[in-house]
Amino acid sequence: MLNLGDGKHDAELLRAQAHIWNHIFNFINSTSLKCAIELGIPEAIHRHGKPMTLSHLAAAIPVTPAKTHSVTRLMRLLVHSGFFAVAKVNDGEGEEAEEEEGYVLTDASQLLLPDNPLSVTPFLMAMLDPILLKPWHHVSRWFGNHDPTPFQTAHGATFWDFAGGQPGLNGFFNDAMASDARLVTTVLVSEFRGAFEGLGSLVDVGGGTGTVAKAIAAAFPELECTVLDLPHVVEGLQGEGNLKFVGGDMFVDIPAADCVLLKWILHDWNDEECVKILKKSKEAIQGREGGKVMIIDMKVENQKEKADDESIETQLFFDMLMMILVTGRERDEKEWAKLFVAAGFRDYKITPILGLRSIIEVYP
Ligand SMILES: C[S@@+](CC[C@H](N)C(=O)[O-])C[C@H]1O[C@@H](n2cnc3c(N)ncnc32)[C@H](O)[C@@H]1O
Repeated sequence: MLNLGDGKHDAELLRAQAHIWNHIFNFINSTSLKCAIELGIPEAIHRHGKPMTLSHLAAAIPVTPAKTHSVTRLMRLLVHSGFFAVAKVNDGEGEEAEEEEGYVLTDASQLLLPDNPLSVTPFLMAMLDPILLKPWHHVSRWFGNHDPTPFQTAHGATFWDFAGGQPGLNGFFNDAMASDARLVTTVLVSEFRGAFEGLGSLVDVGGGTGTVAKAIAAAFPELECTVLDLPHVVEGLQGEGNLKFVGGDMFVDIPAADCVLLKWILHDWNDEECVKILKKSKEAIQGREGGKVMIIDMKVENQKEKADDESIETQLFFDMLMMILVTGRERDEKEWAKLFVAAGFRDYKITPILGLRSIIEVYP
């Protein structure tokens, strides 16, 4: 037990207190970032085209003049957390030019620009929306009840049923998925082309509003692509050329194809549900030469030396997210292999080319 005042343990005790404070206030990182996005700070700095002084920044965003000083404090935190950096501005001419400092974007804030097709902003806004934050306040209650998820405890329905009746949630969740899909697809069709060659058809199961399938259909004009998702997600969406949309339930039927794509699907579901989806996927590729299932999801790294601390924490965060919103989890290789065997597959190959996520090809 650490006691203050015995000299020997004072430093440890104060470090422990700082550690707790840091964790209590972790939410300030995400809410401050959300505030910067709502104020349009990344775009304002981007439009400025050179290091932007505080006065220029404050004039470009919706901030009451009396609160300009508070912008410095917000920016100080966001510089500390790596979203902006400070650089010298050399605005004037000749020797008298005053050297001031201004804010510039970092790689992370470039990815938050609304016009960037790879923008992560829709994902951030969805994850920090009050509807998706509410279940986090019900986790301890959920541990003591029989609900499948804290989302159900908070909202009285499963995430998917609730989204079906809430056009707002359905819309921002689909936008969040589409923003991630653009980022992943860019890597997929450039660095993983070989995996699609020779395929005649592909069904993107739980393919949302079709961002991934559209990009694949455009990159491979000979490939017939189908997006299968819940009826309320694909309602009103029109396919064209080699792309079509089908409303349905992957637990009931998956349209036949040479390749079944499951991007960010299986981590939403528990093992039993995953085996059902995988069995339906196996039926869909049955009898097809070169038929396979392609999964895009995380493979959790258990060996500490293989992943840095931040990546481990991100994987743990995602695993918690899957427990809170849906019935899923993030899996390590052994857990993935167990699912594949249980669904009757013969072999698999994991290619870790998507940052924290991998492409897992599974063969019947
Ligand atoms: C996490 S999102 C992933 C979306 C997309 N694959 C992506 O990565 O951008 C899960 C998707 O599964 C869909 N989904 C949930 N239950 C489903 C079901 N029973 N049948 C078909 N799709 C379903 C959801 O509507 C949602 O679009």
